[in-house]
Amino acid sequence: MTTASDPPAWSWRWRPMTPADLPAVLLIGDEIHRDLPEDEAVFRQRLLLFPAGCFALEITEPAEHGEGGPPAASSDGGDSSARIGGYIMSFPIRRHRPPALNALFPGGALAADADQYYLHDVAVLPRFRARGVASAGVRMVLGGSEGRGGSRNGNGCRERDGAQSGPAAAYETTSLVSVYGTCKFWERFGFRVIATAEGGLVRGNATDEEAEGESGGEGLWEALRDKLRGYGDDAKFMIRQNPAEAPA
Ligand SMILES: CC(C)(COP(=O)(O)OP(=O)(O)OC[C@H]1O[C@@H](n2cnc3c(N)ncnc32)[C@H](O)[C@@H]1OP(=O)(O)O)[C@@H](O)C(=O)NCCC(=O)NCCS
Repeated sequence: MTTASDPPAWSWRWRPMTPADLPAVLLIGDEIHRDLPEDEAVFRQRLLLFPAGCFALEITEPAEHGEGGPPAASSDGGDSSARIGGYIMSFPIRRHRPPALNALFPGGALAADADQYYLHDVAVLPRFRARGVASAGVRMVLGGSEGRGGSRNGNGCRERDGAQSGPAAAYETTSLVSVYGTCKFWERFGFRVIATAEGGLVRGNATDEEAEGESGGEGLWEALRDKLRGYGDDAKFMIRQNPAEAPA
């Protein structure tokens, strides 16, 4: 019997997603987000418009350990096989204006005045969880100081070549919609809840600037609350301050 503390028989790496990954990614999305489904066109548009924020979790395992259907791709002539075990979708948005669930970008383009990074989805199939895989992916996207070395990777694989600066690092803040009670997971990376589907803005957690000022005041938070409800009653909007990029 193996336990979570045993090294897994598989190795993994996060790599840029390609259109060829979409069928596998969609299957994983459908399996993990049964109550929050998104269409193929939505995934495809995000990948097309912001490939720098889309990653596939490539799992390589000895051929005899392969389960759950044919491998996504053969990597080394038969001794092992590679498949997709998870994904990350992320892109820039206008501050505090995440997309509605399963929505195409208005006008078919990213917001020209995007000023916040948005982590839309991180999903890892259950059998590859609890090994630090998602955390490594999140650090990779956030970049900045979290992206520099020291990331846990049980197999000695690199998370990603040149993981120094993730796509989020160019933005002052990163936001996300936490579902399935994952706030504790996100708090590890410095995210805090500033609005909920139940109550809207969490005044005690939001800075004055977030609550009023440039964020657009109450109307913004009402609109956000309505959008959060589309993600379920437990949905929470979280943000983190990205560390300032070190001078070159
Ligand atoms: C959330 C998810 C991506 C985590 O994947 P993972 O590879 O198992 O995560 P990690 O191994 O990097 O977890 C790191 C730590 O976070 C904790 N953690 C993982 N999932 C958690 C959750 N749902 N809630 C709270 N803590 C969680 C782990 O226990 C682990 O703690 P440890 O370091 O003390 O052992 C995965 O469970 C998943 O795909 N869930 C379904 C989709 C989902 O919820 N996505 C996020 C939606 S906002």
